[in-house]
Amino acid sequence: MVHRPHEVTDFQEDIHVVSNAQGEAIGVIAIHSTALGPAAGGCRFWHYDSHADLTADAIRLARGMSYKNALADLPLGGGKAVLRRPEGGFDRAALFRAFGDAVESLGGAYITAEDVGTTVADMERVRERTRYVAGLHAEPGKSGGDPSPWTARGVFEAMQAAARFALGSDLDGLTVAVQGTGNVGAALCRMLRAAGARLAIADVDRRRVDALVAELGARAVSADDILAADADILAPCALGGVLNGRTIPGLKARLVCGAANNQLATEADGEALLARGIVYAPDYVVNAGGIINVSAEYLGEAPEAVERRIGEIAPRLTGILEVTARDNLPANIVADTLARRIIARGQRAAA
Ligand code: NAI
Repeated sequence: MVHRPHEVTDFQEDIHVVSNAQGEAIGVIAIHSTALGPAAGGCRFWHYDSHADLTADAIRLARGMSYKNALADLPLGGGKAVLRRPEGGFDRAALFRAFGDAVESLGGAYITAEDVGTTVADMERVRERTRYVAGLHAEPGKSGGDPSPWTARGVFEAMQAAARFALGSDLDGLTVAVQGTGNVGAALCRMLRAAGARLAIADVDRRRVDALVAELGARAVSADDILAADADILAPCALGGVLNGRTIPGLKARLVCGAANNQLATEADGEALLARGIVYAPDYVVNAGGIINVSAEYLGEAPEAVERRIGEIAPRLTGILEVTARDNLPANIVADTLARRIIARGQRAAA
């Protein structure tokens, strides 16, 4: 079944419903754009109240992938899969095989990989049904594997550059509040600690926080208080929508730079950050490391290409922040405009 959404005005392509072996809808694959290449983006496996909420999330995430891939100079369009995590027990292998069938049915228009709630093992199940998947176990000397460390590396380097730009300082001695200490957040915390930053951390999973408090001497903050924690930098590394009309007035950090996709609840929230003098590093600019690694795996590029492309994230961000400061424009608008231009060029070239 295919239907076109109405919530996002620049949505260009399709929504495909994913069904399990019993024919029940278990999620969607949203393809935002294939102007620059096959739509690539991970598979989120999470709890949703309704199919409409899940679909809206997939659409927003797919658009973010289009913009992210375009700005990272990858030959890829943007898409995303979102699957609803069943309550209670379920057959995980069967669920991801069914998802693999759905990916295969699109004939290469969409390439999947990990996102929140999915693992390398899940992608191996998907691989049993389709070759349009990356984020598999890496073979020696080749790109691949869990993209999270690469995402963390790009965020870390971007944060270094943004701190110099916005705070005139290296990370040494600054306090970074990290919301979400999962795959990316924990790896980022280790890099930040090694660079001399102080850490304030929160996760709804208390065990993850306790482990990092013990390992890194981080300060534990409750999940309710982390966004307004006393810190120089806020790094959202959990879920989207955390920068909104309710939270922005209480932020104490002067810079926001983190891995989470869709950190701004609405476009206008970028303006609200600017009005408060808070520098925002657009999420999809800084968190491109994972898709860069996924893309290299899929396209058969060497690990050196991954290093090179990730090294371009920090200077790209600095360029965007310079335009933001020069023209007094929200950073999300500057980044979106650049990305749309690149996608439009791809569309014209394909026409
Ligand atoms: P993950 O699932 O490993 O970690 C997310 C963590 O956030 C979990 O520990 C979870 O308990 C925690 N969390 C959820 N809600 C929270 C809340 N309200 N307060 C505090 N903690 C909360 O996911 P991962 O892979 O680390 O991704 C984190 C974010 O980065 C996501 O938004 C993801 O879309 C984004 N991202 C991840 C990439 C990757 O390579 N893994 C690539 C690009 C973006």
